[in-house]
Amino acid sequence: MALLSVAGLGVRYGAILAVRDVGLTVDAGEIVALLGANGAGKTTTLSAIVGLVPANAGTVTFDGRAMGGLGTELIVRAGMTLVPEGRRVFPSLSVDENLTLGAASRGDRAATASARQEMFELFPILAERRGQLAGTLSGGQQQQLAIARALMSGPRLLLLDEPSLGLAPQVVDDIFDLIARLRESGLTILLVEQNVAMALDVADRAYVLASGEIVMEGTAAELKASEEIERAYLGIAEAV
Ligand SMILES: Nc1ncnc2c1ncn2[C@@H]1O[C@H](COP(=O)(O)OP(=O)(O)OP(=O)(O)O)[C@@H](O)[C@H]1O
Ligand SMILES: [Mg+2]
Repeated sequence: MALLSVAGLGVRYGAILAVRDVGLTVDAGEIVALLGANGAGKTTTLSAIVGLVPANAGTVTFDGRAMGGLGTELIVRAGMTLVPEGRRVFPSLSVDENLTLGAASRGDRAATASARQEMFELFPILAERRGQLAGTLSGGQQQQLAIARALMSGPRLLLLDEPSLGLAPQVVDDIFDLIARLRESGLTILLVEQNVAMALDVADRAYVLASGEIVMEGTAAELKASEEIERAYLGIAEAV
């Protein structure tokens, strides 16, 4: 049984049907990429999965439990946490305070303390900067903090929305290394990325969204070999 199973998902913003009949699965231990052009509905899909926007159709099943209507707080407790697009940390709070807020759903001081220790081991720079205001961290450091904050809730499934966006190439490499390491540690990941080549290198499988619908799915190797993917995403920029 899949860890996450989404079926017939529809999301409407007023008159606009942003996501239509989306179905996808993520098995435990997998990295699954969700690809697509700007405005395709990637963020909307992730937001609906974690209850940040209401779905008007479909079901989200996590670990055998229906998530529909639960709300983000309970969904985080169930084990799914989103790192939103644009690495939104609390800028006027310290690194430490940001991490503490990430563990709010746990309500368990010992678990929070040990999670913080794990984060400092995973992200040494955050340990070094633990008293610094998050808004004064560099972009790459803020992305690390955004991921660490999400991990503080102890998720089994991490949803990452464009973690490499706007970062320098070396920092992008670091983020992808981190994603690979997180998977090795047993985490399951649903990854939205505009860096399609790198996403397909790290992912096991991928789905492609266009105008709110899944138009292609397969193993990462299949999609890498696909002429359509090559033309739309992997060739020269003008090839779209
Ligand atoms: N709050 C909102 N109200 C109205 N329309 C919205 C809202 N959020 C998104 N949309 C629309 O829904 C569609 C899907 O947007 P979404 O943000 O999910 O795309 P995306 O694939 O994440 O794009 P990007 O790669 O640019 O992040 C777009 O047409 C967008 O304009
Ligand atoms: Mg988006």
